Amino acid sequence: MEVLRIRGGNPLRGEITVSGAKNAALPIFAATLLTDEECVIDNVPDLSDVRYMAEILGCLGAKVERQGAHGWSFKAENIHSKAPYDLVRKMRASVCLIGPLVGRLREAEVSLPGGCVIGPRPIDLHLKGLGKLNCDLRISNGYVHIDGHAMRGGDLFLGGRHGSTVTGTANLLMAAVLAPGRTRIESAACEPEIVDLCGMLKAMGAEISGVGSHHLTVEGVEKLHGCHYRIISDRIEAGTFLIAGAITGGDLTVCGTQPNHLSALLDKLEEAHIETEIVGEDKIRVIPGGKRRPVDLITLPHPAFPTDLQAQMCALMSLTPGLSILTEKIYPNRFMHVPELQRMGADIAIEGPSAIIKGKETLSGAPVMASDLRASAALILAGLAAQGETWIQRIYHIDRGYERIDERLRGLEADIVRLPASEMPQEILEEG
Ligand code: EPU
Repeated sequence: MEVLRIRGGNPLRGEITVSGAKNAALPIFAATLLTDEECVIDNVPDLSDVRYMAEILGCLGAKVERQGAHGWSFKAENIHSKAPYDLVRKMRASVCLIGPLVGRLREAEVSLPGGCVIGPRPIDLHLKGLGKLNCDLRISNGYVHIDGHAMRGGDLFLGGRHGSTVTGTANLLMAAVLAPGRTRIESAACEPEIVDLCGMLKAMGAEISGVGSHHLTVEGVEKLHGCHYRIISDRIEAGTFLIAGAITGGDLTVCGTQPNHLSALLDKLEEAHIETEIVGEDKIRVIPGGKRRPVDLITLPHPAFPTDLQAQMCALMSLTPGLSILTEKIYPNRFMHVPELQRMGADIAIEGPSAIIKGKETLSGAPVMASDLRASAALILAGLAAQGETWIQRIYHIDRGYERIDERLRGLEADIVRLPASEMPQEILEEG
Protein backbone atom coordinates (compact mmCIF):
# COMPACT_ATOMS: atom_id res chain seq x y z
CA MET A 1 0.00 0.00 0.00
CA GLU A 2 1.18 3.51 -0.78
CA VAL A 3 0.35 6.84 0.81
CA LEU A 4 0.82 10.48 -0.11
CA ARG A 5 2.72 12.84 2.17
CA ILE A 6 2.07 16.51 1.52
CA ARG A 7 3.85 19.38 3.21
CA GLY A 8 1.51 22.31 2.70
CA GLY A 9 2.19 25.94 2.04
CA ASN A 10 3.88 26.09 -1.37
CA PRO A 11 1.96 28.24 -3.88
CA LEU A 12 1.71 26.23 -7.13
CA ARG A 13 3.57 27.80 -10.02
CA GLY A 14 4.11 26.95 -13.65
CA GLU A 15 2.25 25.21 -16.45
CA ILE A 16 0.47 21.89 -16.48
CA THR A 17 -1.06 20.04 -19.41
CA VAL A 18 -4.37 18.31 -18.90
CA SER A 19 -4.79 14.59 -19.74
CA GLY A 20 -7.50 13.07 -21.90
CA ALA A 21 -10.92 12.74 -20.27
CA LYS A 22 -11.48 9.55 -18.25
CA ASN A 23 -15.26 9.80 -18.48
CA ALA A 24 -15.05 10.15 -22.26
CA ALA A 25 -12.51 7.33 -22.63
CA LEU A 26 -14.62 4.73 -20.79
CA PRO A 27 -17.74 4.81 -23.04
CA ILE A 28 -15.56 5.36 -26.13
CA PHE A 29 -13.66 2.17 -25.31
CA ALA A 30 -17.02 0.39 -24.97
CA ALA A 31 -18.11 1.80 -28.36
CA THR A 32 -15.28 -0.09 -30.07
CA LEU A 33 -17.40 -3.24 -29.55
CA LEU A 34 -19.86 -1.88 -32.12
CA THR A 35 -17.67 -2.90 -35.06
CA ASP A 36 -15.54 -5.86 -36.06
CA GLU A 37 -13.02 -3.44 -37.60
CA GLU A 38 -10.05 -1.87 -35.83
CA CYS A 39 -10.53 1.30 -33.75
CA VAL A 40 -7.51 3.32 -32.62
CA ILE A 41 -8.03 5.75 -29.76
CA ASP A 42 -5.55 8.52 -28.85
CA ASN A 43 -5.11 10.92 -25.95
CA VAL A 44 -6.27 8.27 -23.50
CA PRO A 45 -5.29 9.02 -19.90
CA ASP A 46 -3.13 6.34 -18.30
CA LEU A 47 -5.39 5.48 -15.37
CA SER A 48 -6.35 2.33 -13.53
CA ASP A 49 -10.04 2.68 -14.57
CA VAL A 50 -9.10 2.97 -18.21
CA ARG A 51 -6.73 -0.01 -18.08
CA TYR A 52 -9.47 -1.96 -16.37
CA MET A 53 -12.00 -1.14 -19.08
CA ALA A 54 -9.48 -2.34 -21.68
CA GLU A 55 -9.08 -5.57 -19.69
CA ILE A 56 -12.85 -6.09 -19.65
CA LEU A 57 -13.00 -5.64 -23.43
CA GLY A 58 -10.26 -8.24 -23.71
CA CYS A 59 -12.29 -10.62 -21.52
CA LEU A 60 -15.26 -10.12 -23.86
CA GLY A 61 -13.08 -11.33 -26.75
CA ALA A 62 -11.72 -8.07 -28.26
CA LYS A 63 -8.09 -7.91 -29.37
CA VAL A 64 -6.62 -5.08 -27.33
CA GLU A 65 -3.23 -3.45 -27.78
CA ARG A 66 -1.53 -0.48 -26.22
CA GLN A 67 0.09 1.99 -28.58
CA GLY A 68 2.48 4.01 -26.46
CA ALA A 69 1.51 5.66 -23.19
CA HIS A 70 -1.74 7.23 -24.40
CA GLY A 71 -2.93 5.19 -27.37
CA TRP A 72 -4.93 1.96 -27.59
CA SER A 73 -6.24 -0.18 -30.43
CA PHE A 74 -9.20 -2.52 -30.32
CA LYS A 75 -10.50 -5.10 -32.76
CA ALA A 76 -13.71 -6.74 -31.61
CA GLU A 77 -14.10 -9.46 -34.23
CA ASN A 78 -15.35 -12.29 -32.06
CA ILE A 79 -16.96 -11.12 -28.86
CA HIS A 80 -19.45 -12.62 -26.47
CA SER A 81 -22.30 -11.02 -24.60
CA LYS A 82 -21.77 -11.78 -20.91
CA ALA A 83 -20.14 -9.30 -18.50
CA PRO A 84 -19.91 -11.14 -15.16
CA TYR A 85 -20.17 -9.71 -11.65
CA ASP A 86 -16.47 -9.90 -10.81
CA LEU A 87 -15.75 -7.61 -13.77
CA VAL A 88 -18.63 -5.15 -13.35
CA ARG A 89 -18.52 -4.73 -9.57
CA LYS A 90 -15.02 -3.22 -9.60
CA MET A 91 -15.99 -0.37 -11.87
CA ARG A 92 -19.47 0.99 -12.17
CA ALA A 93 -18.80 2.54 -15.58
CA SER A 94 -18.73 -0.97 -17.04
CA VAL A 95 -22.55 -0.75 -17.25
CA CYS A 96 -21.91 1.20 -20.44
CA LEU A 97 -21.09 -2.13 -22.08
CA ILE A 98 -24.81 -2.92 -22.22
CA GLY A 99 -25.56 -0.57 -25.13
CA PRO A 100 -22.79 -1.73 -27.49
CA LEU A 101 -23.35 -5.42 -26.67
CA VAL A 102 -27.07 -5.17 -27.42
CA GLY A 103 -26.40 -3.03 -30.50
CA ARG A 104 -23.84 -5.40 -31.97
CA LEU A 105 -24.93 -8.86 -30.74
CA ARG A 106 -28.63 -8.22 -30.09
CA GLU A 107 -28.21 -9.65 -26.61
CA ALA A 108 -26.36 -8.94 -23.40
CA GLU A 109 -26.10 -10.40 -19.95
CA VAL A 110 -24.55 -7.87 -17.61
CA SER A 111 -24.27 -7.97 -13.85
CA LEU A 112 -26.18 -5.18 -12.07
CA PRO A 113 -23.60 -2.81 -10.60
CA GLY A 114 -25.07 -1.99 -7.18
CA GLY A 115 -24.42 1.28 -5.34
CA CYS A 116 -21.13 2.89 -4.46
CA VAL A 117 -19.68 5.15 -1.83
CA ILE A 118 -21.12 8.35 -3.36
CA GLY A 119 -24.66 6.98 -3.03
CA PRO A 120 -27.22 4.76 -4.77
CA ARG A 121 -26.57 4.54 -8.49
CA PRO A 122 -29.58 2.92 -10.16
CA ILE A 123 -29.78 2.07 -13.86
CA ASP A 124 -33.57 2.16 -14.14
CA LEU A 125 -33.46 4.85 -16.84
CA HIS A 126 -31.03 2.78 -18.95
CA LEU A 127 -33.38 -0.20 -18.73
CA LYS A 128 -36.53 1.83 -19.40
CA GLY A 129 -34.84 3.21 -22.51
CA LEU A 130 -33.90 -0.25 -23.76
CA GLY A 131 -37.54 -1.28 -23.28
CA LYS A 132 -38.55 1.61 -25.56
CA LEU A 133 -36.13 0.24 -28.17
CA ASN A 134 -38.25 -2.92 -28.06
CA CYS A 135 -35.73 -4.96 -26.13
CA ASP A 136 -36.94 -7.67 -23.81
CA LEU A 137 -35.48 -7.39 -20.29
CA ARG A 138 -35.30 -9.86 -17.46
CA ILE A 139 -33.52 -9.52 -14.14
CA SER A 140 -32.41 -12.67 -12.37
CA ASN A 141 -29.61 -13.64 -9.99
CA GLY A 142 -28.17 -10.11 -10.00
CA TYR A 143 -27.94 -9.98 -13.79
CA VAL A 144 -29.93 -8.11 -16.37
CA HIS A 145 -30.56 -10.23 -19.46
CA ILE A 146 -31.41 -8.22 -22.53
CA ASP A 147 -32.86 -9.77 -25.65
CA GLY A 148 -32.60 -7.23 -28.45
CA HIS A 149 -33.43 -9.45 -31.42
CA ALA A 150 -36.57 -7.41 -32.12
CA MET A 151 -34.83 -4.09 -31.41
CA ARG A 152 -35.94 -1.03 -33.37
CA GLY A 153 -35.81 2.74 -33.00
CA GLY A 154 -38.13 4.40 -30.49
CA ASP A 155 -38.87 7.57 -28.55
CA LEU A 156 -37.09 7.77 -25.20
CA PHE A 157 -37.17 10.22 -22.30
CA LEU A 158 -34.08 10.07 -20.08
CA GLY A 159 -34.89 12.65 -17.40
CA GLY A 160 -34.86 11.33 -13.85
CA ARG A 161 -35.14 12.83 -10.37
CA HIS A 162 -31.58 14.11 -10.63
CA GLY A 163 -31.71 15.24 -14.23
CA SER A 164 -30.64 13.30 -17.29
CA THR A 165 -28.28 10.36 -17.00
CA VAL A 166 -24.81 10.53 -18.53
CA THR A 167 -23.97 6.83 -18.80
CA GLY A 168 -27.62 6.08 -19.60
CA THR A 169 -27.47 8.45 -22.59
CA ALA A 170 -24.20 6.80 -23.68
CA ASN A 171 -25.71 3.33 -23.41
CA LEU A 172 -28.87 4.13 -25.34
CA LEU A 173 -26.99 5.99 -28.05
CA MET A 174 -24.71 2.98 -28.52
CA ALA A 175 -27.70 0.63 -28.80
CA ALA A 176 -29.69 2.98 -31.06
CA VAL A 177 -26.97 3.57 -33.66
CA LEU A 178 -27.43 -0.03 -34.85
CA ALA A 179 -31.21 -0.28 -34.25
CA PRO A 180 -33.33 -0.15 -37.40
CA GLY A 181 -35.31 3.09 -37.78
CA ARG A 182 -35.24 6.42 -35.98
CA THR A 183 -34.63 6.93 -32.26
CA ARG A 184 -35.40 10.22 -30.55
CA ILE A 185 -33.82 10.76 -27.15
CA GLU A 186 -35.39 13.55 -25.11
CA SER A 187 -33.72 14.93 -21.97
CA ALA A 188 -30.46 13.42 -23.17
CA ALA A 189 -27.35 14.33 -21.19
CA CYS A 190 -25.30 17.01 -22.98
CA GLU A 191 -22.02 16.68 -21.04
CA PRO A 192 -18.90 17.19 -23.19
CA GLU A 193 -18.13 13.48 -22.71
CA ILE A 194 -21.42 12.61 -24.45
CA VAL A 195 -20.58 15.02 -27.27
CA ASP A 196 -17.24 13.24 -27.56
CA LEU A 197 -18.89 9.82 -27.68
CA CYS A 198 -21.16 11.12 -30.48
CA GLY A 199 -18.01 12.29 -32.30
CA MET A 200 -16.57 8.78 -32.05
CA LEU A 201 -19.83 7.13 -33.15
CA LYS A 202 -20.11 9.48 -36.13
CA ALA A 203 -16.50 8.71 -37.04
CA MET A 204 -17.62 5.05 -37.11
CA GLY A 205 -20.43 5.89 -39.53
CA ALA A 206 -23.33 6.51 -37.13
CA GLU A 207 -26.02 9.06 -38.01
CA ILE A 208 -26.74 11.31 -35.03
CA SER A 209 -28.14 14.83 -34.99
CA GLY A 210 -28.74 17.32 -32.17
CA VAL A 211 -25.32 16.59 -30.67
CA GLY A 212 -24.65 18.81 -27.64
CA SER A 213 -28.36 19.39 -26.99
CA HIS A 214 -30.92 17.58 -24.84
CA HIS A 215 -32.65 16.25 -27.99
CA LEU A 216 -30.74 13.62 -29.94
CA THR A 217 -31.99 11.91 -33.08
CA VAL A 218 -30.37 8.73 -34.32
CA GLU A 219 -31.03 7.10 -37.68
CA GLY A 220 -30.01 3.48 -37.21
CA VAL A 221 -27.48 2.07 -39.68
CA GLU A 222 -26.76 -1.56 -40.51
CA LYS A 223 -23.07 -1.57 -39.77
CA LEU A 224 -20.38 0.64 -38.30
CA HIS A 225 -16.74 0.71 -39.33
CA GLY A 226 -13.39 1.21 -37.63
CA CYS A 227 -11.94 4.67 -36.96
CA HIS A 228 -9.09 6.66 -35.48
CA TYR A 229 -10.30 8.99 -32.73
CA ARG A 230 -8.75 11.46 -30.30
CA ILE A 231 -10.38 11.95 -26.92
CA ILE A 232 -11.12 15.44 -25.50
CA SER A 233 -9.20 16.82 -22.54
CA ASP A 234 -10.45 16.18 -19.04
CA ARG A 235 -12.47 19.18 -17.82
CA ILE A 236 -12.63 17.84 -14.27
CA GLU A 237 -8.86 17.40 -14.09
CA ALA A 238 -8.43 20.93 -15.50
CA GLY A 239 -10.88 22.29 -12.93
CA THR A 240 -9.09 20.45 -10.12
CA PHE A 241 -5.77 22.05 -11.12
CA LEU A 242 -7.35 25.51 -11.33
CA ILE A 243 -8.75 25.10 -7.83
CA ALA A 244 -5.32 23.84 -6.70
CA GLY A 245 -3.80 27.06 -8.04
CA ALA A 246 -6.45 29.15 -6.29
CA ILE A 247 -6.31 27.38 -2.92
CA THR A 248 -2.51 27.75 -2.70
CA GLY A 249 -2.52 31.37 -3.93
CA GLY A 250 -0.36 30.25 -6.85
CA ASP A 251 0.18 31.40 -10.41
CA LEU A 252 -0.71 28.44 -12.54
CA THR A 253 -1.54 27.94 -16.21
CA VAL A 254 -3.59 24.91 -17.18
CA CYS A 255 -2.83 24.01 -20.81
CA GLY A 256 -4.61 21.90 -23.41
CA THR A 257 -8.08 22.51 -21.99
CA GLN A 258 -11.36 23.68 -23.49
CA PRO A 259 -12.39 26.79 -21.53
CA ASN A 260 -16.01 26.52 -22.72
CA HIS A 261 -16.28 23.19 -20.86
CA LEU A 262 -15.46 25.00 -17.62
CA SER A 263 -17.75 28.03 -17.78
CA ALA A 264 -19.63 27.23 -14.54
CA LEU A 265 -16.39 26.85 -12.60
CA LEU A 266 -14.83 30.01 -14.06
CA ASP A 267 -18.00 31.90 -13.17
CA LYS A 268 -17.84 30.67 -9.54
CA LEU A 269 -14.14 31.50 -9.28
CA GLU A 270 -14.90 35.03 -10.46
CA GLU A 271 -17.66 35.29 -7.84
CA ALA A 272 -15.09 34.12 -5.26
CA HIS A 273 -12.78 36.98 -6.39
CA ILE A 274 -10.27 34.55 -7.85
CA GLU A 275 -8.88 35.99 -11.04
CA THR A 276 -8.53 33.74 -14.07
CA GLU A 277 -7.52 34.55 -17.61
CA ILE A 278 -8.12 32.59 -20.80
CA VAL A 279 -4.87 32.60 -22.73
CA GLY A 280 -5.18 31.80 -26.43
CA GLU A 281 -7.60 29.00 -27.25
CA ASP A 282 -6.73 26.33 -24.79
CA LYS A 283 -5.04 27.73 -21.69
CA ILE A 284 -6.48 29.06 -18.47
CA ARG A 285 -4.32 30.92 -15.98
CA VAL A 286 -5.22 31.40 -12.35
CA ILE A 287 -3.69 34.59 -11.03
CA PRO A 288 -2.72 35.18 -7.39
CA GLY A 289 -3.81 38.13 -5.30
CA GLY A 290 -7.12 39.48 -4.08
CA LYS A 291 -9.09 38.46 -1.05
CA ARG A 292 -11.24 35.40 -1.64
CA ARG A 293 -14.97 35.61 -1.02
CA PRO A 294 -17.32 32.77 -0.04
CA VAL A 295 -19.81 31.46 -2.64
CA ASP A 296 -22.97 29.39 -2.78
CA LEU A 297 -23.30 26.79 -5.48
CA ILE A 298 -25.58 23.99 -6.63
CA THR A 299 -24.38 21.01 -8.65
CA LEU A 300 -26.59 20.14 -11.61
CA PRO A 301 -26.14 18.48 -15.02
CA HIS A 302 -23.98 20.26 -17.61
CA PRO A 303 -23.62 23.17 -18.33
CA ALA A 304 -24.27 23.94 -14.63
CA PHE A 305 -21.69 23.34 -11.90
CA PRO A 306 -20.42 19.71 -12.08
CA THR A 307 -20.78 17.37 -9.12
CA ASP A 308 -17.28 16.09 -9.90
CA LEU A 309 -15.83 19.44 -8.72
CA GLN A 310 -17.99 19.83 -5.60
CA ALA A 311 -15.51 18.20 -3.19
CA GLN A 312 -12.63 20.33 -4.51
CA MET A 313 -14.73 23.50 -4.05
CA CYS A 314 -15.53 22.33 -0.55
CA ALA A 315 -11.78 22.33 0.20
CA LEU A 316 -11.38 25.78 -1.35
CA MET A 317 -14.30 27.28 0.58
CA SER A 318 -13.04 25.71 3.83
CA LEU A 319 -10.11 28.08 3.39
CA THR A 320 -12.14 31.11 2.33
CA PRO A 321 -13.35 33.13 5.33
CA GLY A 322 -17.14 33.62 5.39
CA LEU A 323 -20.15 31.37 4.89
CA SER A 324 -20.46 29.17 1.78
CA ILE A 325 -23.24 26.71 1.00
CA LEU A 326 -22.60 23.94 -1.50
CA THR A 327 -25.71 21.98 -2.49
CA GLU A 328 -25.39 18.61 -4.19
CA LYS A 329 -28.31 17.86 -6.52
CA ILE A 330 -26.80 14.93 -8.42
CA TYR A 331 -25.60 12.72 -5.55
CA PRO A 332 -27.17 14.17 -2.36
CA ASN A 333 -24.89 12.01 -0.16
CA ARG A 334 -21.61 12.85 -1.88
CA PHE A 335 -19.91 14.34 1.19
CA MET A 336 -17.45 11.62 2.22
CA HIS A 337 -14.66 14.20 2.08
CA VAL A 338 -16.28 16.32 4.79
CA PRO A 339 -15.31 14.32 7.91
CA GLU A 340 -11.73 14.16 6.59
CA LEU A 341 -11.61 17.93 5.94
CA GLN A 342 -12.97 18.37 9.47
CA ARG A 343 -9.93 16.44 10.74
CA MET A 344 -7.84 19.18 9.16
CA GLY A 345 -9.82 21.82 11.05
CA ALA A 346 -12.49 22.69 8.49
CA ASP A 347 -15.78 23.97 9.91
CA ILE A 348 -18.44 22.24 7.81
CA ALA A 349 -21.95 21.10 8.74
CA ILE A 350 -24.02 18.85 6.51
CA GLU A 351 -27.69 19.76 6.33
CA GLY A 352 -29.58 17.44 3.95
CA PRO A 353 -27.91 17.74 0.52
CA SER A 354 -25.92 20.85 1.51
CA ALA A 355 -22.51 21.49 3.05
CA ILE A 356 -22.56 24.66 5.12
CA ILE A 357 -19.00 25.88 5.36
CA LYS A 358 -17.62 28.51 7.71
CA GLY A 359 -14.37 29.22 5.96
CA LYS A 360 -11.19 29.73 7.95
CA GLU A 361 -7.83 31.41 7.39
CA THR A 362 -5.90 28.17 7.91
CA LEU A 363 -6.25 24.39 8.01
CA SER A 364 -3.73 22.12 9.65
CA GLY A 365 -2.23 19.00 8.11
CA ALA A 366 -3.55 15.67 9.41
CA PRO A 367 -3.65 11.97 8.54
CA VAL A 368 -6.75 11.46 6.36
CA MET A 369 -8.40 8.70 4.42
CA ALA A 370 -9.46 8.93 0.77
CA SER A 371 -12.92 7.45 0.15
CA ASP A 372 -13.50 8.03 -3.57
CA LEU A 373 -11.90 9.74 -6.51
CA ARG A 374 -13.05 13.34 -6.09
CA ALA A 375 -12.87 13.20 -2.29
CA SER A 376 -9.19 12.24 -2.71
CA ALA A 377 -8.65 15.26 -4.95
CA ALA A 378 -10.23 17.52 -2.32
CA LEU A 379 -7.92 16.13 0.37
CA ILE A 380 -4.85 16.73 -1.80
CA LEU A 381 -5.92 20.33 -2.41
CA ALA A 382 -6.54 20.91 1.30
CA GLY A 383 -3.18 19.31 2.12
CA LEU A 384 -1.35 21.55 -0.38
CA ALA A 385 -2.73 24.64 1.35
CA ALA A 386 -2.72 23.45 4.99
CA GLN A 387 -0.01 24.17 7.51
CA GLY A 388 2.16 21.15 8.26
CA GLU A 389 2.04 17.56 7.03
CA THR A 390 -0.94 15.72 5.59
CA TRP A 391 -0.80 11.96 5.03
CA ILE A 392 -3.40 10.53 2.68
CA GLN A 393 -4.18 6.82 2.80
CA ARG A 394 -6.11 4.66 0.25
CA ILE A 395 -4.69 6.64 -2.64
CA TYR A 396 -5.68 3.97 -5.17
CA HIS A 397 -8.86 6.06 -5.47
CA ILE A 398 -6.91 9.03 -6.88
CA ASP A 399 -5.06 6.82 -9.37
CA ARG A 400 -8.43 5.88 -10.89
CA GLY A 401 -8.89 9.40 -12.24
CA TYR A 402 -5.72 11.53 -12.11
CA GLU A 403 -2.63 10.42 -14.00
CA ARG A 404 0.63 10.57 -11.96
CA ILE A 405 -0.90 13.31 -9.82
CA ASP A 406 1.97 13.51 -7.32
CA GLU A 407 4.67 13.74 -10.00
CA ARG A 408 2.77 16.40 -11.94
CA LEU A 409 2.06 18.49 -8.85
CA ARG A 410 5.75 18.29 -7.92
CA GLY A 411 6.44 19.88 -11.31
CA LEU A 412 4.42 22.85 -10.00
CA GLU A 413 6.58 23.17 -6.88
CA ALA A 414 4.24 21.24 -4.58
CA ASP A 415 5.88 19.27 -1.78
CA ILE A 416 4.10 15.95 -2.32
CA VAL A 417 5.58 12.45 -2.36
CA ARG A 418 4.24 8.93 -2.74
CA LEU A 419 5.68 6.62 -0.11
CA PRO A 420 5.17 3.06 1.06
CA ALA A 421 2.68 3.03 3.95
CA SER A 422 5.45 1.62 6.13
CA GLU A 423 7.11 5.07 6.05
CA MET A 424 4.19 6.74 7.79
CA PRO A 425 4.82 7.74 11.39
CA GLN A 426 3.80 4.81 13.59
CA GLU A 427 1.18 6.70 15.58
CA ILE A 428 -0.65 7.68 12.38
CA LEU A 429 -0.60 4.12 11.06
CA GLU A 430 -2.16 2.90 14.27
CA GLU A 431 -4.84 5.56 14.03
CA GLY A 432 -5.66 4.48 10.45
N1 EPU B 1 -29.81 8.02 -12.06
C1 EPU B 1 -31.04 7.41 -11.89
N2 EPU B 1 -31.36 6.38 -12.73
C2 EPU B 1 -30.53 5.94 -13.70
C3 EPU B 1 -29.28 6.57 -13.86
C4 EPU B 1 -28.96 7.62 -13.03
O1 EPU B 1 -31.80 7.78 -11.01
O2 EPU B 1 -30.90 5.00 -14.42
C5 EPU B 1 -29.44 9.12 -11.16
C6 EPU B 1 -28.15 8.84 -10.40
O3 EPU B 1 -28.41 8.08 -9.22
C7 EPU B 1 -27.63 10.21 -10.11
C8 EPU B 1 -28.05 10.98 -11.36
O4 EPU B 1 -29.12 10.25 -11.94
O5 EPU B 1 -28.29 10.76 -9.01
C9 EPU B 1 -26.95 11.17 -12.38
O6 EPU B 1 -26.39 9.92 -12.71
P1 EPU B 1 -25.66 9.64 -14.09
O7 EPU B 1 -26.23 8.40 -14.67
O8 EPU B 1 -25.67 10.87 -14.92
O9 EPU B 1 -24.17 9.35 -13.60
P2 EPU B 1 -23.19 8.31 -14.22
O10 EPU B 1 -23.35 8.30 -15.67
O11 EPU B 1 -23.30 7.04 -13.49
C10 EPU B 1 -21.23 9.96 -14.71
C11 EPU B 1 -19.78 10.04 -14.32
C12 EPU B 1 -19.66 10.48 -12.87
C13 EPU B 1 -20.37 11.82 -12.72
C14 EPU B 1 -21.84 11.70 -13.19
C15 EPU B 1 -22.58 13.01 -13.15
C16 EPU B 1 -18.76 8.38 -15.71
C17 EPU B 1 -18.05 7.09 -15.82
N3 EPU B 1 -19.16 8.75 -14.51
O12 EPU B 1 -21.80 8.97 -13.85
O13 EPU B 1 -18.27 10.63 -12.62
O14 EPU B 1 -20.34 12.20 -11.36
O15 EPU B 1 -21.86 11.21 -14.54
O16 EPU B 1 -21.96 13.95 -13.96
O17 EPU B 1 -18.92 9.08 -16.70
C18 EPU B 1 -16.33 10.71 -11.33
O18 EPU B 1 -15.69 10.84 -12.38
O19 EPU B 1 -15.80 10.89 -10.19
C19 EPU B 1 -17.75 10.34 -11.39
C20 EPU B 1 -18.42 9.83 -10.37
